Amino acid sequence: MPSLQPYSTFGLAASCDSIQSFTDVASFLSIFNTSKNNNNAIYILGGGSNSIFTDDFDGTVLVNEIKGISHFDTESHHYLRVGAGENWHEFVTLCMKEKWYGFENLALIPGSVGACPIQNIGAYGREVNALIDKVECVFLETGEQVLLSNEDCQFGYRDSVFKHALANKVLITHVNFKLPKHYELETSYGELAALTEPTPEKVYSKVIEIRKSKLPDPSELGNAGSFFKNPVVSKAVFQAIAQDYDSVPHFVVSGSADFPATENEQIKIPAAWLIDQAGFKGKTLNKVRCHPTQPLVLTNLGGATGSDVITMAKDIIASVQGKFGIQLEPEVRLLGSKGLISL
Ligand code: FAD
Ligand code: EPU
Repeated sequence: MPSLQPYSTFGLAASCDSIQSFTDVASFLSIFNTSKNNNNAIYILGGGSNSIFTDDFDGTVLVNEIKGISHFDTESHHYLRVGAGENWHEFVTLCMKEKWYGFENLALIPGSVGACPIQNIGAYGREVNALIDKVECVFLETGEQVLLSNEDCQFGYRDSVFKHALANKVLITHVNFKLPKHYELETSYGELAALTEPTPEKVYSKVIEIRKSKLPDPSELGNAGSFFKNPVVSKAVFQAIAQDYDSVPHFVVSGSADFPATENEQIKIPAAWLIDQAGFKGKTLNKVRCHPTQPLVLTNLGGATGSDVITMAKDIIASVQGKFGIQLEPEVRLLGSKGLISL
Protein backbone atom coordinates (compact mmCIF):
# COMPACT_ATOMS: atom_id res chain seq x y z
CA MET A 1 0.00 0.00 0.00
CA PRO A 2 1.72 3.26 -1.11
CA SER A 3 2.20 5.97 1.50
CA LEU A 4 0.36 9.29 1.16
CA GLN A 5 2.65 11.00 3.66
CA PRO A 6 4.85 12.72 1.04
CA TYR A 7 1.76 13.81 -0.93
CA SER A 8 0.16 15.91 1.81
CA THR A 9 1.88 18.86 3.49
CA PHE A 10 0.28 17.91 6.84
CA GLY A 11 2.20 14.63 6.55
CA LEU A 12 0.08 12.15 8.52
CA ALA A 13 1.01 8.48 8.08
CA ALA A 14 -1.71 7.16 5.75
CA SER A 15 -1.79 4.95 2.69
CA CYS A 16 -4.11 4.23 -0.24
CA ASP A 17 -4.67 1.44 -2.78
CA SER A 18 -2.62 3.20 -5.46
CA ILE A 19 -1.21 6.57 -6.46
CA GLN A 20 -1.07 7.43 -10.15
CA SER A 21 -0.05 10.66 -11.81
CA PHE A 22 -1.29 11.93 -15.17
CA THR A 23 -0.02 14.57 -17.56
CA ASP A 24 -2.99 14.88 -19.92
CA VAL A 25 -6.75 14.38 -20.06
CA ALA A 26 -6.58 11.10 -21.99
CA SER A 27 -4.37 9.41 -19.38
CA PHE A 28 -6.56 10.83 -16.58
CA LEU A 29 -9.75 9.43 -18.15
CA SER A 30 -8.13 6.05 -18.73
CA ILE A 31 -7.15 5.74 -15.02
CA PHE A 32 -10.51 7.17 -13.91
CA ASN A 33 -12.54 4.73 -16.03
CA THR A 34 -10.51 1.73 -14.90
CA SER A 35 -11.06 2.76 -11.26
CA LYS A 36 -14.76 3.25 -11.91
CA ASN A 37 -15.11 -0.16 -13.59
CA ASN A 38 -13.43 -1.75 -10.55
CA ASN A 39 -15.67 0.23 -8.17
CA ASN A 40 -12.62 2.02 -6.74
CA ALA A 41 -13.02 5.44 -5.18
CA ILE A 42 -10.74 8.17 -6.54
CA TYR A 43 -9.37 11.41 -5.12
CA ILE A 44 -7.78 14.10 -7.30
CA LEU A 45 -4.72 15.68 -5.74
CA GLY A 46 -2.61 18.71 -6.61
CA GLY A 47 0.10 19.69 -4.12
CA GLY A 48 -1.76 18.20 -1.13
CA SER A 49 -1.49 21.48 0.84
CA ASN A 50 -5.20 21.61 1.65
CA SER A 51 -5.84 17.86 2.00
CA ILE A 52 -5.36 15.96 5.26
CA PHE A 53 -5.56 12.15 5.08
CA THR A 54 -6.79 11.21 8.57
CA ASP A 55 -7.01 7.51 7.69
CA ASP A 56 -5.91 5.03 5.01
CA PHE A 57 -7.87 5.85 1.85
CA ASP A 58 -9.67 2.92 0.17
CA GLY A 59 -9.10 4.04 -3.39
CA THR A 60 -6.81 5.57 -6.00
CA VAL A 61 -5.20 8.98 -5.62
CA LEU A 62 -4.70 10.73 -8.96
CA VAL A 63 -1.97 13.36 -8.94
CA ASN A 64 -2.39 16.15 -11.46
CA GLU A 65 0.77 16.89 -13.46
CA ILE A 66 -0.76 18.69 -16.46
CA LYS A 67 1.86 21.33 -17.27
CA GLY A 68 2.34 24.22 -19.66
CA ILE A 69 2.05 27.99 -19.61
CA SER A 70 1.10 30.06 -22.66
CA HIS A 71 0.77 33.83 -22.94
CA PHE A 72 -0.47 36.47 -25.33
CA ASP A 73 -1.31 40.10 -24.83
CA THR A 74 -3.52 42.80 -26.25
CA GLU A 75 -3.19 46.53 -25.82
CA SER A 76 -5.01 46.33 -22.51
CA HIS A 77 -4.45 42.86 -21.02
CA HIS A 78 -2.13 39.90 -20.56
CA TYR A 79 -3.80 36.52 -21.09
CA LEU A 80 -2.34 33.35 -19.58
CA ARG A 81 -3.40 29.73 -19.97
CA VAL A 82 -1.83 27.56 -17.29
CA GLY A 83 -1.80 23.78 -16.81
CA ALA A 84 -3.48 22.74 -13.55
CA GLY A 85 -0.40 20.79 -12.45
CA GLU A 86 1.90 23.82 -12.46
CA ASN A 87 3.17 24.88 -9.02
CA TRP A 88 1.39 28.04 -7.86
CA HIS A 89 4.33 29.92 -6.34
CA GLU A 90 6.69 29.06 -9.22
CA PHE A 91 4.03 30.38 -11.61
CA VAL A 92 3.64 33.62 -9.57
CA THR A 93 7.43 34.05 -9.55
CA LEU A 94 7.59 33.58 -13.34
CA CYS A 95 4.88 36.23 -13.75
CA MET A 96 6.89 38.66 -11.63
CA LYS A 97 9.97 38.08 -13.84
CA GLU A 98 7.89 38.66 -16.98
CA LYS A 99 6.20 41.75 -15.43
CA TRP A 100 2.74 40.17 -15.74
CA TYR A 101 1.56 41.83 -12.57
CA GLY A 102 -1.45 41.07 -10.37
CA PHE A 103 -0.44 37.95 -8.45
CA GLU A 104 2.06 39.62 -6.08
CA ASN A 105 -0.20 39.46 -2.99
CA LEU A 106 -0.67 35.73 -3.57
CA ALA A 107 3.03 34.81 -3.46
CA LEU A 108 4.22 31.76 -1.52
CA ILE A 109 0.83 30.05 -1.27
CA PRO A 110 1.63 26.34 -1.60
CA GLY A 111 -0.10 24.00 -4.02
CA SER A 112 -1.07 23.76 -7.66
CA VAL A 113 -2.60 26.20 -10.13
CA GLY A 114 -5.51 23.77 -10.66
CA ALA A 115 -6.60 24.03 -7.04
CA CYS A 116 -6.56 27.85 -6.95
CA PRO A 117 -10.16 28.30 -8.17
CA ILE A 118 -11.55 25.61 -5.86
CA GLN A 119 -11.34 27.60 -2.65
CA ASN A 120 -10.65 30.89 -4.48
CA ILE A 121 -7.26 31.30 -2.79
CA GLY A 122 -6.70 34.64 -1.16
CA ALA A 123 -4.16 36.53 0.90
CA TYR A 124 -3.19 40.07 1.83
CA GLY A 125 -6.24 41.75 0.35
CA ARG A 126 -6.49 39.87 -2.95
CA GLU A 127 -8.47 36.82 -4.04
CA VAL A 128 -7.55 34.94 -7.20
CA ASN A 129 -11.05 35.32 -8.70
CA ALA A 130 -10.16 38.94 -9.54
CA LEU A 131 -7.68 37.55 -12.09
CA ILE A 132 -9.42 34.42 -13.37
CA ASP A 133 -10.96 34.65 -16.83
CA LYS A 134 -12.04 31.05 -17.49
CA VAL A 135 -11.55 27.60 -16.00
CA GLU A 136 -11.21 24.55 -18.27
CA CYS A 137 -12.69 21.33 -16.87
CA VAL A 138 -13.54 17.78 -17.85
CA PHE A 139 -16.65 16.08 -16.49
CA LEU A 140 -15.52 12.87 -14.79
CA GLU A 141 -18.54 10.78 -15.77
CA THR A 142 -18.76 11.73 -19.45
CA GLY A 143 -15.31 13.04 -20.39
CA GLU A 144 -17.01 16.15 -21.79
CA GLN A 145 -14.73 19.22 -21.78
CA VAL A 146 -16.26 22.50 -20.60
CA LEU A 147 -15.11 26.09 -20.33
CA LEU A 148 -16.48 27.91 -17.29
CA SER A 149 -16.59 31.70 -17.20
CA ASN A 150 -15.59 33.61 -14.09
CA GLU A 151 -19.28 34.11 -13.32
CA ASP A 152 -20.03 30.38 -13.76
CA CYS A 153 -17.49 29.65 -11.01
CA GLN A 154 -19.62 31.49 -8.38
CA PHE A 155 -16.59 32.64 -6.42
CA GLY A 156 -16.90 33.70 -2.78
CA TYR A 157 -14.67 33.84 0.28
CA ARG A 158 -12.85 30.46 0.21
CA ASP A 159 -15.71 29.24 -1.94
CA SER A 160 -16.73 28.39 -5.51
CA VAL A 161 -19.05 26.15 -7.54
CA PHE A 162 -16.34 23.46 -7.27
CA LYS A 163 -17.27 23.04 -3.60
CA HIS A 164 -21.00 22.80 -4.35
CA ALA A 165 -22.75 21.84 -7.62
CA LEU A 166 -19.49 20.64 -9.25
CA ALA A 167 -17.91 19.07 -6.14
CA ASN A 168 -16.23 15.77 -7.14
CA LYS A 169 -17.73 16.05 -10.63
CA VAL A 170 -14.91 17.68 -12.62
CA LEU A 171 -11.19 17.67 -13.18
CA ILE A 172 -9.80 21.17 -13.65
CA THR A 173 -7.26 20.92 -16.48
CA HIS A 174 -6.26 24.57 -17.09
CA VAL A 175 -6.88 27.97 -15.56
CA ASN A 176 -7.03 31.03 -17.84
CA PHE A 177 -6.05 34.36 -16.31
CA LYS A 178 -6.68 37.89 -17.60
CA LEU A 179 -4.44 40.59 -16.12
CA PRO A 180 -5.14 44.25 -16.84
CA LYS A 181 -1.98 46.12 -17.91
CA HIS A 182 -3.20 49.17 -15.99
CA TYR A 183 -3.62 47.37 -12.72
CA GLU A 184 -4.03 48.79 -9.26
CA LEU A 185 -1.70 47.59 -6.54
CA GLU A 186 -3.46 46.22 -3.47
CA THR A 187 -1.62 47.48 -0.40
CA SER A 188 -4.39 48.07 2.12
CA TYR A 189 -3.85 44.88 4.18
CA GLY A 190 -1.85 45.10 7.42
CA GLU A 191 1.88 45.53 7.01
CA LEU A 192 1.61 46.19 3.24
CA ALA A 193 0.16 49.63 3.98
CA ALA A 194 3.53 50.67 5.45
CA LEU A 195 5.41 50.15 2.16
CA THR A 196 6.90 53.35 0.77
CA GLU A 197 6.42 53.92 -2.96
CA PRO A 198 5.05 50.39 -3.41
CA THR A 199 5.78 48.44 -6.58
CA PRO A 200 4.62 44.90 -7.48
CA GLU A 201 8.14 43.66 -6.69
CA LYS A 202 8.07 45.29 -3.24
CA VAL A 203 4.63 43.79 -2.49
CA TYR A 204 5.81 40.35 -3.67
CA SER A 205 8.92 40.48 -1.43
CA LYS A 206 7.02 41.87 1.58
CA VAL A 207 4.29 39.22 1.32
CA ILE A 208 6.98 36.51 1.26
CA GLU A 209 8.70 38.09 4.27
CA ILE A 210 5.47 38.35 6.32
CA ARG A 211 4.38 34.82 5.45
CA LYS A 212 7.79 33.38 6.41
CA SER A 213 7.62 35.17 9.77
CA LYS A 214 4.10 33.95 10.66
CA LEU A 215 3.37 30.67 8.95
CA PRO A 216 5.22 27.41 9.53
CA ASP A 217 7.09 26.07 6.50
CA PRO A 218 5.46 22.72 5.64
CA SER A 219 8.85 21.28 4.66
CA GLU A 220 9.92 21.75 8.30
CA LEU A 221 6.63 21.38 10.20
CA GLY A 222 3.63 19.59 8.72
CA ASN A 223 0.59 21.83 8.27
CA ALA A 224 -2.14 22.76 5.81
CA GLY A 225 -2.28 26.52 6.37
CA SER A 226 -5.44 27.89 8.00
CA PHE A 227 -7.36 24.96 9.43
CA PHE A 228 -10.61 26.94 9.75
CA LYS A 229 -12.28 29.68 7.71
CA ASN A 230 -12.70 33.12 9.23
CA PRO A 231 -16.37 33.26 10.29
CA VAL A 232 -18.59 35.91 8.77
CA VAL A 233 -21.31 36.96 11.23
CA SER A 234 -24.20 39.40 11.35
CA LYS A 235 -23.71 42.85 12.83
CA ALA A 236 -25.87 41.84 15.83
CA VAL A 237 -23.63 38.86 16.67
CA PHE A 238 -20.55 41.03 16.33
CA GLN A 239 -22.00 43.77 18.55
CA ALA A 240 -22.85 41.25 21.28
CA ILE A 241 -19.20 40.06 21.32
CA ALA A 242 -17.86 43.62 21.17
CA GLN A 243 -19.79 44.46 24.36
CA ASP A 244 -17.70 41.96 26.30
CA TYR A 245 -14.38 42.45 24.48
CA ASP A 246 -13.03 45.97 23.94
CA SER A 247 -11.02 45.38 20.82
CA VAL A 248 -12.37 42.55 18.72
CA PRO A 249 -10.44 42.62 15.43
CA HIS A 250 -12.93 42.66 12.57
CA PHE A 251 -13.48 43.52 8.92
CA VAL A 252 -16.71 44.71 7.40
CA VAL A 253 -17.75 42.56 4.45
CA SER A 254 -20.17 43.92 1.89
CA GLY A 255 -23.77 42.73 2.04
CA SER A 256 -24.98 39.62 0.28
CA ALA A 257 -28.23 38.05 -0.80
CA ASP A 258 -28.24 36.09 2.46
CA PHE A 259 -28.78 39.29 4.43
CA PRO A 260 -31.78 41.62 4.11
CA ALA A 261 -31.04 45.05 2.63
CA THR A 262 -31.70 46.78 5.95
CA GLU A 263 -29.22 44.62 7.78
CA ASN A 264 -26.76 44.01 4.98
CA GLU A 265 -23.50 44.54 6.78
CA GLN A 266 -21.62 41.36 7.60
CA ILE A 267 -18.58 41.23 9.82
CA LYS A 268 -15.61 38.90 9.42
CA ILE A 269 -13.95 38.08 12.75
CA PRO A 270 -10.50 36.44 12.54
CA ALA A 271 -10.79 32.82 13.69
CA ALA A 272 -7.20 33.21 14.95
CA TRP A 273 -8.48 35.72 17.52
CA LEU A 274 -11.40 33.50 18.60
CA ILE A 275 -9.09 30.49 18.99
CA ASP A 276 -6.52 32.60 20.83
CA GLN A 277 -9.22 33.90 23.25
CA ALA A 278 -10.43 30.34 23.76
CA GLY A 279 -6.95 29.54 25.10
CA PHE A 280 -5.69 27.20 22.39
CA LYS A 281 -2.74 29.18 21.09
CA GLY A 282 0.40 27.08 21.55
CA LYS A 283 -1.62 24.22 23.07
CA THR A 284 -0.56 20.65 22.19
CA LEU A 285 -2.69 17.53 22.06
CA ASN A 286 -0.54 14.46 21.58
CA LYS A 287 1.43 15.37 18.45
CA VAL A 288 -0.81 18.17 17.14
CA ARG A 289 -0.09 21.76 18.10
CA CYS A 290 -2.07 24.94 17.69
CA HIS A 291 0.66 27.15 16.22
CA PRO A 292 2.10 29.70 18.69
CA THR A 293 2.35 32.61 16.20
CA GLN A 294 -0.79 31.82 14.17
CA PRO A 295 -3.39 29.80 16.12
CA LEU A 296 -5.48 29.28 12.99
CA VAL A 297 -2.83 26.80 11.86
CA LEU A 298 -2.61 23.30 13.37
CA THR A 299 0.73 21.56 12.99
CA ASN A 300 1.96 17.98 13.00
CA LEU A 301 4.84 17.80 15.48
CA GLY A 302 5.81 14.45 13.92
CA GLY A 303 3.90 11.21 14.30
CA ALA A 304 0.46 12.83 14.76
CA THR A 305 -2.51 10.60 13.94
CA GLY A 306 -5.76 11.42 12.17
CA SER A 307 -7.66 11.04 15.41
CA ASP A 308 -5.29 13.54 17.16
CA VAL A 309 -6.14 16.08 14.44
CA ILE A 310 -9.88 15.43 14.61
CA THR A 311 -9.93 15.57 18.43
CA MET A 312 -8.02 18.86 18.52
CA ALA A 313 -10.21 20.39 15.80
CA LYS A 314 -13.41 19.31 17.56
CA ASP A 315 -12.12 20.70 20.91
CA ILE A 316 -11.44 24.06 19.26
CA ILE A 317 -14.84 24.14 17.56
CA ALA A 318 -16.63 23.28 20.84
CA SER A 319 -14.67 25.87 22.87
CA VAL A 320 -15.23 28.69 20.39
CA GLN A 321 -18.90 27.73 20.12
CA GLY A 322 -19.24 27.69 23.92
CA LYS A 323 -17.46 31.01 24.44
CA PHE A 324 -18.74 33.03 21.49
CA GLY A 325 -21.67 31.09 20.00
CA ILE A 326 -19.83 30.97 16.66
CA GLN A 327 -19.48 27.73 14.71
CA LEU A 328 -16.04 27.45 13.08
CA GLU A 329 -15.94 25.60 9.77
CA PRO A 330 -12.88 23.76 8.49
CA GLU A 331 -11.08 25.37 5.58
CA VAL A 332 -9.00 22.22 4.95
CA ARG A 333 -10.24 19.08 3.17
CA LEU A 334 -10.33 16.19 5.64
CA LEU A 335 -10.31 12.66 4.23
CA GLY A 336 -11.28 9.38 5.85
CA SER A 337 -11.14 5.87 4.41
CA LYS A 338 -14.05 6.47 2.02
CA GLY A 339 -13.25 10.05 0.95
CA LEU A 340 -14.07 13.53 2.21
CA ILE A 341 -15.41 13.74 5.76
CA SER A 342 -16.86 16.58 7.81
CA LEU A 343 -16.34 17.23 11.51
P1 FAD B 1 -4.85 19.89 -2.80
O1 FAD B 1 -4.78 19.78 -1.33
O2 FAD B 1 -4.05 18.94 -3.60
O3 FAD B 1 -6.38 19.81 -3.25
C1 FAD B 1 -7.33 20.66 -2.65
C2 FAD B 1 -8.74 20.28 -3.15
O4 FAD B 1 -8.85 20.55 -4.53
C3 FAD B 1 -9.03 18.79 -3.00
O5 FAD B 1 -10.38 18.64 -2.68
C4 FAD B 1 -8.72 18.22 -4.38
O6 FAD B 1 -9.48 17.05 -4.65
C5 FAD B 1 -9.13 19.37 -5.29
N1 FAD B 1 -8.33 19.47 -6.52
C6 FAD B 1 -7.01 19.77 -6.60
N2 FAD B 1 -6.64 19.90 -7.88
C7 FAD B 1 -7.75 19.66 -8.63
C8 FAD B 1 -8.02 19.65 -10.03
N3 FAD B 1 -7.07 19.89 -10.94
N4 FAD B 1 -9.29 19.38 -10.45
C9 FAD B 1 -10.29 19.12 -9.56
N5 FAD B 1 -10.08 19.13 -8.21
C10 FAD B 1 -8.83 19.39 -7.77
N6 FAD B 1 -4.77 29.13 0.93
C11 FAD B 1 -5.18 30.39 0.70
O7 FAD B 1 -6.23 30.60 0.06
N7 FAD B 1 -4.48 31.47 1.13
C12 FAD B 1 -3.33 31.34 1.83
O8 FAD B 1 -2.72 32.32 2.21
C13 FAD B 1 -2.85 30.02 2.08
N8 FAD B 1 -1.72 29.83 2.79
C14 FAD B 1 -1.29 28.57 3.04
C15 FAD B 1 -0.09 28.41 3.77
C16 FAD B 1 0.40 27.14 4.04
C17 FAD B 1 1.69 26.99 4.81
C18 FAD B 1 -0.31 26.00 3.57
C19 FAD B 1 0.25 24.63 3.83
C20 FAD B 1 -1.49 26.14 2.87
C21 FAD B 1 -2.00 27.43 2.60
N9 FAD B 1 -3.19 27.65 1.90
C22 FAD B 1 -3.61 28.91 1.62
C23 FAD B 1 -4.01 26.49 1.47
C24 FAD B 1 -3.57 25.84 0.13
O9 FAD B 1 -2.26 26.24 -0.21
C25 FAD B 1 -4.52 26.21 -1.01
O10 FAD B 1 -5.82 25.75 -0.71
C26 FAD B 1 -4.08 25.60 -2.34
O11 FAD B 1 -4.85 26.12 -3.40
C27 FAD B 1 -4.20 24.09 -2.35
O12 FAD B 1 -3.58 23.60 -3.52
P2 FAD B 1 -3.16 22.08 -3.66
O13 FAD B 1 -2.82 21.83 -5.07
O14 FAD B 1 -2.10 21.73 -2.66
O15 FAD B 1 -4.55 21.39 -3.25
N1 EPU C 1 -4.65 37.10 15.71
C1 EPU C 1 -4.78 36.88 17.06
N2 EPU C 1 -3.84 36.10 17.69
C2 EPU C 1 -2.78 35.59 17.01
C3 EPU C 1 -2.65 35.81 15.61
C4 EPU C 1 -3.62 36.59 14.98
O1 EPU C 1 -5.72 37.36 17.70
O2 EPU C 1 -1.96 34.91 17.64
C5 EPU C 1 -5.66 37.96 15.02
C6 EPU C 1 -5.10 39.37 14.84
O3 EPU C 1 -6.11 40.27 15.17
C7 EPU C 1 -4.83 39.45 13.35
C8 EPU C 1 -5.90 38.53 12.83
O4 EPU C 1 -5.97 37.45 13.75
O5 EPU C 1 -4.97 40.75 12.88
C9 EPU C 1 -5.68 38.04 11.40
O6 EPU C 1 -4.46 37.35 11.30
P1 EPU C 1 -3.70 37.23 9.89
O7 EPU C 1 -3.51 38.55 9.27
O8 EPU C 1 -2.49 36.38 10.11
O9 EPU C 1 -4.70 36.48 8.93
P2 EPU C 1 -5.84 35.40 9.14
O10 EPU C 1 -7.15 36.07 9.03
O11 EPU C 1 -5.60 34.58 10.35
C10 EPU C 1 -6.12 34.91 6.61
C11 EPU C 1 -6.17 33.72 5.70
C12 EPU C 1 -4.76 33.26 5.38
C13 EPU C 1 -4.03 34.39 4.67
C14 EPU C 1 -3.99 35.59 5.63
C15 EPU C 1 -3.37 36.81 5.00
C16 EPU C 1 -8.24 32.56 6.13
C17 EPU C 1 -8.91 31.37 6.72
N3 EPU C 1 -6.92 32.65 6.30
O12 EPU C 1 -5.59 34.48 7.84
O13 EPU C 1 -4.85 32.16 4.47
O14 EPU C 1 -2.72 34.02 4.32
O15 EPU C 1 -5.35 35.95 6.01
O16 EPU C 1 -4.25 37.39 4.10
O17 EPU C 1 -8.90 33.40 5.51
C18 EPU C 1 -5.01 29.79 4.33
O18 EPU C 1 -6.10 29.95 3.78
O19 EPU C 1 -4.51 28.65 4.51
C19 EPU C 1 -4.25 30.96 4.81
C20 EPU C 1 -3.09 30.87 5.45
